[in-house]
Amino acid sequence: MDITKTQKANKLLVVDNELANLQLLITCLGEHYEIQVAHDGEEALTEVHASKPDIILMDVKMPKLDGFETCRRLKADEQTKNIPVVFLTALDDTEDEIKGFEAGAADYLTKPVHYKEMLRRIDTARQASHIKRPVAEHTQELKESEAHLIQSEKMASIGQIMAGVVHEINTPLGYARSSVELTGSYFSDIAKTLEACKKLGKQFQSKDKSDEEQLETTLATAMKLLNSLQEDETVVEAQILLENALSGIDRISSLVKNLKNFSQLNRDKIAEFDVNQGLDEALTMVDHKLCDKIQIIKHYGDVPHIICSPAQINQVFLHLLINAIQAISSDTGVIELQTQVIDQYVYISITDNGDGISKENLARIFEPFFTTKTSGKGTGLGLAIVHKIIKEHQGELNVASQIGRGTQFIIFLPFKQ
Ligand SMILES: Nc1ncnc2c1ncn2[C@@H]1O[C@H](COP(=O)(O)OP(=O)(O)OP(=O)(O)O)[C@@H](O)[C@H]1O
Ligand SMILES: [Mg+2]
Repeated sequence: MDITKTQKANKLLVVDNELANLQLLITCLGEHYEIQVAHDGEEALTEVHASKPDIILMDVKMPKLDGFETCRRLKADEQTKNIPVVFLTALDDTEDEIKGFEAGAADYLTKPVHYKEMLRRIDTARQASHIKRPVAEHTQELKESEAHLIQSEKMASIGQIMAGVVHEINTPLGYARSSVELTGSYFSDIAKTLEACKKLGKQFQSKDKSDEEQLETTLATAMKLLNSLQEDETVVEAQILLENALSGIDRISSLVKNLKNFSQLNRDKIAEFDVNQGLDEALTMVDHKLCDKIQIIKHYGDVPHIICSPAQINQVFLHLLINAIQAISSDTGVIELQTQVIDQYVYISITDNGDGISKENLARIFEPFFTTKTSGKGTGLGLAIVHKIIKEHQGELNVASQIGRGTQFIIFLPFKQ
């Protein structure tokens, strides 16, 4: 069966906000599908109506409208509900997979995935789109294992941070790996061409040039291979793919560097600490959660170094930043970070324009396990940990909040011991 021909007759809409990913997917799948592209969920909804694809391959984390919501909207629309949607994402935990299937996905692929496997799954989803997947059964199974996981996850807040880090690493790792894989497959064509050229050179060098017919055949083979390399732009594509791989590797190495600085293996180690730098490092850790909807404004003063446990103070910043991000539901979020010296203290303020905290809740936020978030999203330990750490550093922690206006956390840390 001529699989290539059968598939090329089909249109595949690829939705991803990362240009490097899009480029890679076009290279991997363009040979088999007629590719259309959308850069976010909103664009996908318009594109689906305009070009009626046979199948959609979609990222989950995208600005404005994420993949899950886009899928839900497609499934709610009579005209688009039968187009199978396959998610391709670095989010690999069970909860996300459940969300994907609940949103109506036909399949859920997690990166890194071999491009042949990806092709196979896309094709299966396309062919099976008329047969309903036993979603309920599958979801139930996943929910049971999720319940088990949550129960055993005592350090869920650390788990959440790790999930973010894993996502950050998996995305570039995915495209670096596939780029290298694909470049490898190009090299067999290049090697064949080089071999033909070598043979040609040997025949020219040999004293006996009488067999002109054979010489011509070798020349024709070498030229054909060279032409096809040129036509397919194999070398140019290999170069682009290698650049992709390199940028993926660079992204991973800068993340690992930050992570190393951030966690400082010995958690109780006491050292000099630059608060402004600490805030910046915490910001890089949550960068992937900001998307385009939250603006960061910094008012850093010229503050002296403090003596503290850097790992613990980093943890404080991280918890406060995550809370601030989670409190912002609008697309015009602002988080302001301010540092200055007040008496013998470094003053650190983290202010958001999120949902705010009611008076009743404000009295309880430092209680361990007090949370207003859904299970799996919040454990209610973040502020309890923050409070404990600041107390252990002979510091002070204050909070002010107004419903609908936002929340401000203020920390005082002594710089003279
Ligand atoms: N910046 C904020 N804006 C609005 N509400 C907040 C903010 N920070 C904390 N809260 C409220 O305080 C509660 C307790 O926060 P805490 O960080 O201790 O736990 P959590 O964020 O719910 O879960 P965890 O941090 O363990 O993931 C939150 O559930 C939320 O209701
Ligand atoms: Mg929290």
